[in-house]
Amino acid sequence: MLGEVLVESDQRPTEPPVFARTGIRVLGSFESRQAPEKLAELIVDRVKQAAPTGSLVLQAFTPDSPAGNRLADEADALLETVRTRLPKDRLLEETWRAREAGAMLVELCVAPGAVMVGSVPAREALSLSPGGRQRMRRPGDAPSRAAMKLEEALINMPFEPGRGEVCVDLGAAPGGWTQRLVARGARVIAVDTAKLLPELAEHQRVEHVHMSAFDYTPEEPADWLFCDMAWRPLEVAQLLAKWGRRGWATHLVANIKLPMKDKNPILLRVRHILTEDGGWQSLTIRQLYHDRDEVTVTAHRAGTL
Ligand SMILES: C[S@@+](CC[C@H](N)C(=O)[O-])C[C@H]1O[C@@H](n2cnc3c(N)ncnc32)[C@H](O)[C@@H]1O
Repeated sequence: MLGEVLVESDQRPTEPPVFARTGIRVLGSFESRQAPEKLAELIVDRVKQAAPTGSLVLQAFTPDSPAGNRLADEADALLETVRTRLPKDRLLEETWRAREAGAMLVELCVAPGAVMVGSVPAREALSLSPGGRQRMRRPGDAPSRAAMKLEEALINMPFEPGRGEVCVDLGAAPGGWTQRLVARGARVIAVDTAKLLPELAEHQRVEHVHMSAFDYTPEEPADWLFCDMAWRPLEVAQLLAKWGRRGWATHLVANIKLPMKDKNPILLRVRHILTEDGGWQSLTIRQLYHDRDEVTVTAHRAGTL
């Protein structure tokens, strides 16, 4: 019934899944060959049973496959029909407020032949975007696609680097992440053997340290450690663990490259190195929508949350 790219399980995973875009508790599955009005009525009944009170963020998505993409208009139309049948004062339009508002995320998944409705409290959701597809326009002045990975990682964090904070960016060139951090008002120490874009290299809040990240020692502890180094995952994890152990940074956002086919054994070791050897806490590991053969790790040091 579920079809391509959707996975159903009887049990909630004990650890948040790394490679799933999103995860919802299925409230009902319906044949899609019925009148939209009837379908909407069935969906609304399930939603009201599962969440009789409180704010709702209502979204629709289609499976991320060619057959799924062809259903985008159908999904939009169904979303509108369901929306008109729910009390207006329960619908929260500002999705970005869903976590602090304690809202329930209700997702309609319009798949070939079937429509599912599911829900998850926004605070526990893997992503607040429909189906976890965090679409983002490429920032006009960003020098690399990498900037979008950073923006997506920051959207999903409870706080972000701000004015005056010190950020170390390991593997910074050509400067997509550095540029986004500078735009937020942060001071950036960009460590890379390769060149930064000239306007960043000359920026007054950017210091380019032209050396290998493995040889770099910070002069003062940083607020944030960013890392997008194209290097072997276990060696990068060990480097990040050293930063954690030595208290060189408070918050961590790192993109770990996983070009190998069997990613899970390496991921387990990366997790172990970061938490057991590095003392990093509140670790999240997720393959974001903009990640390719890579995952994004976020973490904090004890007492910082
Ligand atoms: C994917 S790119 C980083 C893109 C960057 N985040 C951006 O937004 O523009 C990977 C970078 O890692 C750097 N790198 C690889 N090994 C490194 C090392 N040992 N020390 C510092 N940088 C390294 C490469 O020079 C390259 O610039």
